[in-house]
Amino acid sequence: MNMRLAAIVFFFALFRGICAQEGFVSIQSCSASNFTDPGTNLTWTSDDHLFHSVGRCESFSVSSRTSSHTKTRFFDKADSNSFCYYLPVLQGQEYLVRATFLHGPIPEPLTATSFKFSIGATSISQIDSSLEYFEVEGVFISATNDHTNFCLLSETGNAYISTLELRPLNEAIYLKGNKSNALKLVTRVDLGNKNLDFRFPKDLADRIWPVDLGERGFFKGKILESPDISLHGSNISIPLEVLQTGITDDDELVIYHKDLLTDHNDFLIILYFLELDANVQIGQRVFDIYLNGDKKYASFDILENENSSNYRVISSRVKSNDFLNISLVKVLNEAKYGPICNAYEIYQVLQRSTETIQRDVNAAIKLKDELIEENPKLEIFRNWHGDPCTPYFWNGLACEEINCSFVITKLDLSSSYLRGPLPSAIGDMTELKELSIQCNPQLNCKIPPSLSSRKNFTVISGPCDSPSPMKRNIGVIGSVAGGSVGVTFALGIFFSCFYKRPRRTLKSSYPGSKSQGFTDHSIHYPIKNPDVKTFTLEYIKKATSCYQTLIGEGGFGIVYRGTLPYGQEVAVKVRSATSVQGTREFDNEVNLLSKLQHDNLVPLLGYCYENDQQILVYPFMSNGSLQERLYGEASKRKVLDWPTRLSIALGAARGLLYLHTYPGRCIIHRDVKSSNILLDQSMCGKVADFGFSKYAPQEGDSGVSLEVRGTAGYLDPEYYCTQQLSTKSDVFSYGVVLLEIVTGREPLNIHRPRNEWSLVEWAKPFIREQRIDEMVDPNIKGSYHAEAMWRVVEAALACIEPFSAYRPNMIDIVRELEDALIIENNASEYMRSIESFGGSNRFQYSIDRKIPGLALTPSEPSSGFCQIIPAPQPR
Ligand SMILES: *[C@@H]1O[C@H](CO)[C@@H](O)[C@H](O)[C@H]1NC(C)=O
Ligand SMILES: *[C@@H]1O[C@H](CO)[C@@H](O)[C@H](O)[C@H]1NC(C)=O
Ligand SMILES: *[C@@H]1O[C@H](CO)[C@@H](O)[C@H](O)[C@H]1NC(C)=O
Ligand SMILES: *[C@@H]1O[C@H](CO)[C@@H](O)[C@H](O)[C@H]1NC(C)=O
Ligand SMILES: *[C@@H]1O[C@H](CO)[C@@H](O)[C@H](O)[C@H]1NC(C)=O
Ligand SMILES: *[C@@H]1O[C@H](CO)[C@@H](O)[C@H](O)[C@H]1NC(C)=O
Ligand SMILES: *[C@@H]1O[C@H](CO)[C@@H](O)[C@H](O)[C@H]1NC(C)=O
Ligand SMILES: *[C@@H]1O[C@H](CO)[C@@H](O)[C@H](O)[C@H]1NC(C)=O
Repeated sequence: MNMRLAAIVFFFALFRGICAQEGFVSIQSCSASNFTDPGTNLTWTSDDHLFHSVGRCESFSVSSRTSSHTKTRFFDKADSNSFCYYLPVLQGQEYLVRATFLHGPIPEPLTATSFKFSIGATSISQIDSSLEYFEVEGVFISATNDHTNFCLLSETGNAYISTLELRPLNEAIYLKGNKSNALKLVTRVDLGNKNLDFRFPKDLADRIWPVDLGERGFFKGKILESPDISLHGSNISIPLEVLQTGITDDDELVIYHKDLLTDHNDFLIILYFLELDANVQIGQRVFDIYLNGDKKYASFDILENENSSNYRVISSRVKSNDFLNISLVKVLNEAKYGPICNAYEIYQVLQRSTETIQRDVNAAIKLKDELIEENPKLEIFRNWHGDPCTPYFWNGLACEEINCSFVITKLDLSSSYLRGPLPSAIGDMTELKELSIQCNPQLNCKIPPSLSSRKNFTVISGPCDSPSPMKRNIGVIGSVAGGSVGVTFALGIFFSCFYKRPRRTLKSSYPGSKSQGFTDHSIHYPIKNPDVKTFTLEYIKKATSCYQTLIGEGGFGIVYRGTLPYGQEVAVKVRSATSVQGTREFDNEVNLLSKLQHDNLVPLLGYCYENDQQILVYPFMSNGSLQERLYGEASKRKVLDWPTRLSIALGAARGLLYLHTYPGRCIIHRDVKSSNILLDQSMCGKVADFGFSKYAPQEGDSGVSLEVRGTAGYLDPEYYCTQQLSTKSDVFSYGVVLLEIVTGREPLNIHRPRNEWSLVEWAKPFIREQRIDEMVDPNIKGSYHAEAMWRVVEAALACIEPFSAYRPNMIDIVRELEDALIIENNASEYMRSIESFGGSNRFQYSIDRKIPGLALTPSEPSSGFCQIIPAPQPR
């Protein structure tokens, strides 16, 4: 475990092999040993000793074009969103990087998913996983950093890689020193070459020049070959053989590509020329060079060179949407011979994304090493790979952009049960403003003087269950310098989602006695959430890199993933042009959501309404939806343990309680379902998707005809029949969600036997006959406390009462679930303690209960129509 975490990001020793290979890095994933390719004399190293327990190795019958390698390492999204090779580079050196991705039939449960390959934070390419072989090549200059991350970024499944190569480039034709750009290879063509691929050692930078299949765009021209021609007056780094073939035409030579990607329109064209006819004199082969109709070079003559060289290379930028027309036109009255071209390369020009300043990268890596030393299994490390600030913040970090680089400004290590001394690396983070280390009883919180003497630096520390949150500003309390921080400070921020880890703090003892924990039901309603912003379309485009990563699709439109400039990850819902329903939902979400603020509701960060485009921006919920977790696609599914299920259910219940008790007019969600309960990075459940939500009807609203809305399987039958909407309809749907978490089954599945189609109908007899064990999700069998389970099942049964009047209110459900969670957590604690004394039986026993279902039912039937609570008055 220790090794595994340590290995995900690694340093590669600089390779000092044979001279010409200096600076080359050649990695074969999963290869059994290091080896030297006899064809090229390149030395390949395995990543096996570095990644040996990370991901999974598979062998296929396809092989990589760059070596005979046939293996692929698959990484698990559940471990992290990103996996990086952290390779040494020379500062200021230009490099070519090449990666290959291959797969064949993939064994379950692996999936080939599309993902991104990035140089540092700059995404170079989306890997098309529908292809069994995919190759990416990029060019970059290592800017301020002495190492560069090469990362696989995956949102949805198993990212994979087969080979990774790094080659120094010493040419003035690519980036020309501009560190703020990177290049992505579109195509490299050795015109007229019908025989062999060329690469290292003939090409000093190991560019691969494949055989010209004639499919690469040019549609006119004759092949010229001149294997005896030699080069004079110049030095070249590409193989002479590449230049010894070419194409020519009488008057005009056209190379045409119309299959270009459309999302980037800035291209770099590099054309290579060698005069292949020894009889041609200066002035006899003269042509104009047009790129997409623009004359870039007039009267171009290969031989017109002060050193009488017979070779020239030019590189030129061109903007284009979907085609490239490279046209060489003979200058009629000057030239005797038609134009010629020997080879060309086309690259997309990309902007480099902002990265973290080297000092903080080093500090972050050191921090990780120091923490791992004492805390090898720490959960917080899960996504600590690659750049600490981008494209994702490492868990617990927050960063800001200063002087075009990210710097680390906050570090939250609270409640991580850290052991050992406070890592010294924290002292290296010179822009750090806030450090949270509370709730780490075994951490030696001695703050080094270098930190405690800093201005504007806040340490939040203390034990886990202090009653009043408090911050300590070191700058103010100067006397703490060097001393150990007192034990009386607790956190404010952390408990904003305060059941995110099972807590150790509840006092009641096993077995599950009633406890008064979690009792504060007072809710604070702001007048209007001031944080909802209006975004411009341009801003949205930038944040989503022109809508690059699609993460979902719904009635409203398409959902993309994006990153705001300061690093926050977002989900961006774009209304589709055809969605009529969408317009209404848009207004609804903006109007409703901009008023709502609760830890268990997915907040609206902002919206954009420009040129008929309607876009909603939410924080990205990195753990997907409850539905995906319970029974979604295999790649997204992950067994949720029972306490986690319980706390997610409780979170969602609190979110709904907030809506139902919203002052003025309570709000009915109308589409409560497991796919609308999203999970943030700490598995905190949040209710999303207010597209259908409504203010509850009030007395006096006459003739309101509301269309019945909702999702099959969750729909309240009474609402369906009477079209009378009340909060109890949400309660019904919520009851179905509770059954889902208990059983792990879909609410409606017509592929099951007829009597199991409806989850509600299927579950009822089990509950009534007290055969809970038989209905519980097999994944959590034997690992729940029976009493806690009973409370949830009872609550569910009460929620799905056919008559709404007999269903409980959300407040009752919240209380019941809180009790259940307390019982469960206490039981878990207790079991852990006896297991450590050698006992190993999981607890499971039955408790005799009366027929459940009534305990939660209100003694008086209640309507579910809202009591009108006066809205808070503006100050
Ligand atoms: C392969 O080479 C790397 C780097 O030189 C080295 O660290 C590693 O131990 C070698 N692996 C094997 C199996 O020889
Ligand atoms: C590889 O190296 C060996 C010995 O150094 C040499 O004889 C051979 O020609 C080289 N092969 C290539 C393809 O350069
Ligand atoms: C480098 O490229 C960026 C973006 O294309 C451009 O704005 C900048 O002017 C270039 N710098 C130089 C020195 O050419
Ligand atoms: C080419 O390289 C050789 C050896 O590095 C050098 O002697 C020669 O002057 C160079 N020629 C030109 C034209 O740059
Ligand atoms: C390519 O550009 C040349 C020169 O501008 C023009 O004559 C030719 O028609 C163009 N070809 C295509 C296919 O657009
Ligand atoms: C011509 O030769 C001189 C000196 O050998 C060299 O500095 C210069 O770069 C050469 N020019 C070209 C275009 O190769
Ligand atoms: C940002 O740049 C300015 C001017 O170059 C410099 O004074 C300042 O210290 C820099 N800030 C940081 C945080 O590096
Ligand atoms: C401390 O922070 C405040 C507000 O964030 C800022 O105005 C002030 O300039 C900072 N002081 C120093 C010394 O950085």
